[in-house]
Amino acid sequence: MKEVVLKNGLSMKPNAVVTKCLFPVAGLGTRFLPVTKEIAKEMLPLVDRPVISYGVEEAIESGCRDIIMITGRTKRSIEDYFDSSFELESILRDRGKMELYEKIHSISEMANILYVRQREPLGLGHAVLCGEPFCRDGYFGVILPDDVFVSDVAVLKQLIEVHRRLGGSVVALEEIPRSEVSRYGIVKSRIESDGVHRIIDMVEKPSPEEAPGNFAIMGRYILSPAIFPLLAEGRAGAGGEIQLTDAMKRLLETEPMWGLVYRGRRFDCGTQKGWLAANIQLALEDADLNPVILDIVNAFKER
Ligand code: G1P
Repeated sequence: MKEVVLKNGLSMKPNAVVTKCLFPVAGLGTRFLPVTKEIAKEMLPLVDRPVISYGVEEAIESGCRDIIMITGRTKRSIEDYFDSSFELESILRDRGKMELYEKIHSISEMANILYVRQREPLGLGHAVLCGEPFCRDGYFGVILPDDVFVSDVAVLKQLIEVHRRLGGSVVALEEIPRSEVSRYGIVKSRIESDGVHRIIDMVEKPSPEEAPGNFAIMGRYILSPAIFPLLAEGRAGAGGEIQLTDAMKRLLETEPMWGLVYRGRRFDCGTQKGWLAANIQLALEDADLNPVILDIVNAFKER
């Protein structure tokens, strides 16, 4: 299939297998209060763009054409960010700031984005279920945008490659210390080939004693539409919420599921530490900003 280079420099090779990607963005961001009291956590800046933009760029680079955002009442700023900004654009044009104009204009042309409201905070599984009307006709991607990855190949694209090769659903995996298992969905798996695990079982946020292993699901999924009827049964799991992990565990009874130990580095931008680390990492990788960070660090060391 032909590669298309978009105006904003992103390249997109439409893939025929996974064309839609769901973004659950209704969460309140309690781990990052007080700043998230009035600012959507997805709109916090990562160097020069909001956190959510990195996830959307990853979906596009992975060949997805349609983005479905599951939003909530307090997330209007996300819609505004990806919409065109007529006033600002015409001012920039009038003032001859064409480079900046192109940059701002290209944001609204980045992707085809649909918005669905999750009216009640019933959990990640419920958020994914809200996307059913748009995703029921084939395998679809899910990106949890708090998890930002720095990688040579987009992590969602790495997952799509596994799906293309082996079929079935695929999740991103990372090996973590046992002491941290209660923060994640944890899988029991058997190594199939290089970096690819066959998933046998999974538990949402187990205690270290109950955990079936120490490979955690990180925020990227390729899911079968067969997940929707399982989510619709709506049984509350860990934390009283409808958990995606519980429905995926039931999906395992009827379909194969794979875990890919992704190649790249993850930052949890839903927390202060992860967000700061991501900013520093991305700034160090930027030719203009790299000396700024190194100067601060060196001056600090010499104190
Ligand atoms: C969610 C999922 C969990 C997964 C995690 C990755 O949890 O429920 O299985 O491991 O994302 O970030 P949350 O972080 O929303 O509590």
